[in-house]
Parts: sequence; structure tokens; C-alpha cells
Amino acid sequence: MRSDVILTDLPDKVDTYIEEQLLSQDDIPAQVLAYHQAQRMPMINMAPNQGKLLNLLIRMSGAKRILEIGTLGGYSTIWMALALPAEGKIVTLDFDENYLEVARASFAMAKVSDKIEIRHGSARQSLLDLIAEKEQNKQAPFDLIFIDADKENNPLYLRLCLQVSRSGTVIIADNVVRDGKLITASDKAPNIRGIRSYYQALQENPLLDSTAIQTMGSKGWDGLAISIVI
Ligand code: DHB
Ligand code: MG
Repeated sequence: MRSDVILTDLPDKVDTYIEEQLLSQDDIPAQVLAYHQAQRMPMINMAPNQGKLLNLLIRMSGAKRILEIGTLGGYSTIWMALALPAEGKIVTLDFDENYLEVARASFAMAKVSDKIEIRHGSARQSLLDLIAEKEQNKQAPFDLIFIDADKENNPLYLRLCLQVSRSGTVIIADNVVRDGKLITASDKAPNIRGIRSYYQALQENPLLDSTAIQTMGSKGWDGLAISIVI
């Protein structure tokens, strides 16, 4: 975490408190995270209380068809799958077969494999495939979309996601603050530029109504953008 901004370990400890107070029953995601640690996966998963937020948003909105861009080990996928009714389904996209191997084992561990369809390949190509399938009436639009892959392509993913959306679709993007680098003009890294372009695309598109919130805690200082398709 950026120590010039965050001077204490209190946000991290507050996350621990929240987990102890409110997430003590959510043992499946905790087991999955322990497995990912043992598998030496990059621990760039969402914080548990953020995974639970996705879970609650799905239950609040009644979303049944979910698209996730960026599976990694499937931690957030599992939080979302646990929110779904029996007929619910998640399509999750990732480029890295090694990550997907861990994700498959994690879905089995969480007993949610039957709700999840993995598509291996570039997210761009998988999205183009999903658009084609929707146009052939083989796929209904998605109710909720979670974008959490390579940040530099966020504007592209948003554009393609809108073609598998409907009025009312919820689109959520992870990592939209990145320690405040978002507004540090000297930071011109491709991922930070991608995030700025994502905000601009949200702003410019009259079909999207959006907000973003900063998050702080066990995963440092970051944020989530949340939009609804008008
Ligand atoms: C990174 C990616 C993420 O999706 C995240 O939540 C945190 C970090 C990364 O690539 O560093
Ligand atoms: Mg992320």
C-alpha cells in the first residue's frame, strides 16, 4: 500500500474485523483462497468483503446470467456463483490456461462447476464469439457483467460488453482507482490510461449511468465502477 497516503494498518485491520463480524459463515470462498495461496497463485483476487458485495448485488438485482472477464483462480467467480439460483449461469473468460486449471479445481471444490462455463482465449475473441451467438439467438443478454482483466483493454471490453447487454444490465469494473494513480497525471502506464479511458467511455455513453467508489483495506487502496445500462 502507498505509505505516503495510508499511514496506518488500520484499514487492513478493519477488513479483518468486517470479515470476522459479517463473513464468518462464508467458509467456501475462504477455503478457495487458502487453496490459491497453496498453489502460489498471484493473490490479486478481490478482498472477501468485496466478493461478498458482488454476491449481494446479484441477489438484490436477481441477476441470473453473468459474464466475467478475467477468471484468474475463480475466487470472484465463486462468490458470484454462490449467489445464483439453480438455473443461473456464469460465463467466465481468461487467457491463461494455468490459471484456468486452478479455477476448474476451485469450482469443483466450491461445488459450483455446473453453473460456470469457462471460455479460454483472448477476451476480445471470446466477446466477439458471444456477440455472434447472441445475434444468432443462441445466447440471451447478460444481466450482470464483471470486468476484471487487463486494465488497458477496459474501453474495448466495455464496448463489446454493451453488445451482449440489455436495458438494466449491470456492469461492474474492478481496480478503477489503483492507489490514486488514476488522477496522477505523470502516470502514463497503459493500465492506468486504460482506466482513465474507461471513465471517459462511461461519461460519454448516454446509455450508461454510473458511479465509482473507492475501496480501502486488505487489498490496499482501489475502487469499483458500477454502471447500469439505460
Ligand atoms: C492486479 C489486478 C487486479 O485485478 C487486481 O484486483 C489487483 C491487482 C494486477 O494486475 O496487479
Ligand atoms: Mg481486480
